[in-house]
Amino acid sequence: MGASKISEYSRWDKIYRRYPLEVLPWELGRPRQFLVNMVKSGKIKKGKTLDLCTGAGTNTVYLARKGFQVIGIDVSHKALEYAKEKTKKANVNIPLQLASFVDLPFDDEQFDFVFDNGCFHHVEVEDRGLFIKGVHRVLKKGGLYLMTVFSDRNGPAWNHFSQEQIIRLFSKHFKIRSIKNIASFEGDGYTRYFYTVLMEKK
Ligand SMILES: C[S@@+](CC[C@H](N)C(=O)[O-])C[C@H]1O[C@@H](n2cnc3c(N)ncnc32)[C@H](O)[C@@H]1O
Repeated sequence: MGASKISEYSRWDKIYRRYPLEVLPWELGRPRQFLVNMVKSGKIKKGKTLDLCTGAGTNTVYLARKGFQVIGIDVSHKALEYAKEKTKKANVNIPLQLASFVDLPFDDEQFDFVFDNGCFHHVEVEDRGLFIKGVHRVLKKGGLYLMTVFSDRNGPAWNHFSQEQIIRLFSKHFKIRSIKNIASFEGDGYTRYFYTVLMEKK
């Protein structure tokens, strides 16, 4: 199966232009608690980091403040404008690039850590293989990938995953260190269920 076109993802910019940040489900205005816990516990160490779908930059700025050397990419120009404002306010230096996760504009083995909050579950089915290989390619050997995806506890959907599916999709390229079920009260007032998966590049 071939890769989907970049235009498949252009709806994201429309979403950011149409709706205020306050009503977007994923935009909590504070970093994700599972990320804060991972950093506090030392499970993720400071290093060169890629925030794959940086969005309005909330988690990206948190990582920069904690001393991570972080780069953010997103397919939405408007999201990157929000993220730029946030970096200015926080007085942190974060390179932000308009790019797609299906064609990562980075050399091989650049990053110690790839962060993905709510990114993989928006990858078109035909792009999943490319996405996984891309993350694997840009990570250094032994580098970590932290992913948060919709779990099938939300009910059946093309992008709600079971633990078995996650293991099947990722275990060829990654050693799975932990999979945790979490519930999150999201920005639109609904609770959603996720798996947070910490993986190490094989
Ligand atoms: C659910 S939001 C999560 C945003 C951010 N990670 C957060 O936690 O606030 C999904 C993000 O993926 C971005 N996105 C969608 N398709 C993309 C692509 N092909 N390449 C890069 N980013 C993409 C969207 O613009 C959006 O910012």
